Amino acid sequence: MRFRGPQALNDTYKKQGVGGAGAIFHLTVLFDPTSHLPYTLPSSVSHNPFVCHSCENCRVCTNNSHSETRTRQSSLVTRNSIRWEYPVGSLMNRVYLDFNATTPVEPAVLDAMLPYFSAEFANAASIHTPGQRARAAVETAREQVAALVGARPQEIVFTSGGTESDNHAIFGIVEAAGGHEKHIVTSAIEHEAVLNACQALEKRGVRLTYLATSADGQIDLGDFRRAIRPETVLISIMHANNELGTVQPLEEIGRLAKEADVYFHTDAVQSAGKIPIDVNALQVDLLSISGHKLYAPKGIGALYVRGGTRLRQLLYGGHHQRGFRPGTENVAGIVGLGKATEIARKSLVEDAQRISTFRDRLQQGLLHRVPQSRVNAALAPRTPNTTNLVFPGVEGEALLIALDLKGLACSTGAACSSGAVEPSHVLTAIGLPPEEARASLRFSLGRHTTPADIDFALNVVPAAVAQLRELSPTYRKEATAHS
Ligand SMILES: Cc1ncc(COP(=O)(O)O)c(C=O)c1O
Repeated sequence: MRFRGPQALNDTYKKQGVGGAGAIFHLTVLFDPTSHLPYTLPSSVSHNPFVCHSCENCRVCTNNSHSETRTRQSSLVTRNSIRWEYPVGSLMNRVYLDFNATTPVEPAVLDAMLPYFSAEFANAASIHTPGQRARAAVETAREQVAALVGARPQEIVFTSGGTESDNHAIFGIVEAAGGHEKHIVTSAIEHEAVLNACQALEKRGVRLTYLATSADGQIDLGDFRRAIRPETVLISIMHANNELGTVQPLEEIGRLAKEADVYFHTDAVQSAGKIPIDVNALQVDLLSISGHKLYAPKGIGALYVRGGTRLRQLLYGGHHQRGFRPGTENVAGIVGLGKATEIARKSLVEDAQRISTFRDRLQQGLLHRVPQSRVNAALAPRTPNTTNLVFPGVEGEALLIALDLKGLACSTGAACSSGAVEPSHVLTAIGLPPEEARASLRFSLGRHTTPADIDFALNVVPAAVAQLRELSPTYRKEATAHS
């Protein structure tokens, strides 16, 4: 087997016109032992700047200072003589601070999953030996997921993600509950997966209480206690908010729910893997998890269901997962979720410490460099990775696009509805006027965020805000009036 060095490879692909910036993967290509030709690259990895020609600022290739931090995170996956070196957390020459939207699949997670797409492809419901190996992998993953939240493996149901878990919990409890009148207590800052499920039930006659929150995104426990009625069948309060990172006092909520003898569901999609969770300490009966928020793939998730909970199934089909969630199991996804939760459990404390230090530096730096900026829900307990700032005088969407052009990915909580940009329901619920809600941006850091990423954001955000404010006649007028 012959191997050619990276520079030679780069020359080869340069000649073919596929070099330069825009790399997603680093590839080390091995050559076919008989033909001595390189194996064909899959179309998804057609770019191959193993060493790029603009190394000074390149965040991807192996020939510059940034690469050290990148290759530290990389993994080598070997298939059919093609070795993929896979730099996670790198989106070409970009800085990604949008980890609450989604995370890259951790290399060790990908490695764990790969056999289940090919050699170990059997159906986990099959009785034969390969089927039993797939079943064993699924059950190992169930144990790993359970361990992250202090549950028993048999209390974990695999789903397609956070949305399905939330819907299963909400519809499942309401449909299994007896009685004529039914009532749910939730909050105004839930994710749409909860809010829209509740609204669908409202149309069917279920009564809803949407609890307001303080300016710090916390529900009031007095309001909460008063909202519970004899006909309340479910309390659904999220653990951590996706836009603000604020963490609700679940222990107290769980205690009150238990006292009132009402089922308690929490959407832990944004907290699982970021902060410790113990379903028994929190006294939750149902808890939603999503794989792609914790370095597993998209399209896999889990619902914790406390033993003995009366929950109607959402889907009807075969006997998979004891008939509770039928459908042929997504073995590779389940294995990926298991591995990701195991990694999260082991690295949670260390990750949280490192990431919160970076988050705090970013937050302080932006407050210092951008006049009039403020942190939304600054005083509440928050997940270690999230900060949401308002930059008065700018349109969040315009700022997002300006930052995107400079190579920084972050997010606004705004939703596009009927062609108009609606301010985030979370930010308006905590009392921000619509123009301030529209002027807010969320930065969410991840396991692969580096100090260089923070430096980059601290350079580009203040400059972009200043530029946009310069273009805003209202802001200029107000600034002159106050000076
Ligand atoms: C708090 C919260 N709940 C639920 C979801 C939905 O999860 P999924 O994308 O896995 O359906 C999200 C996704 O952004 C979320 O942030």
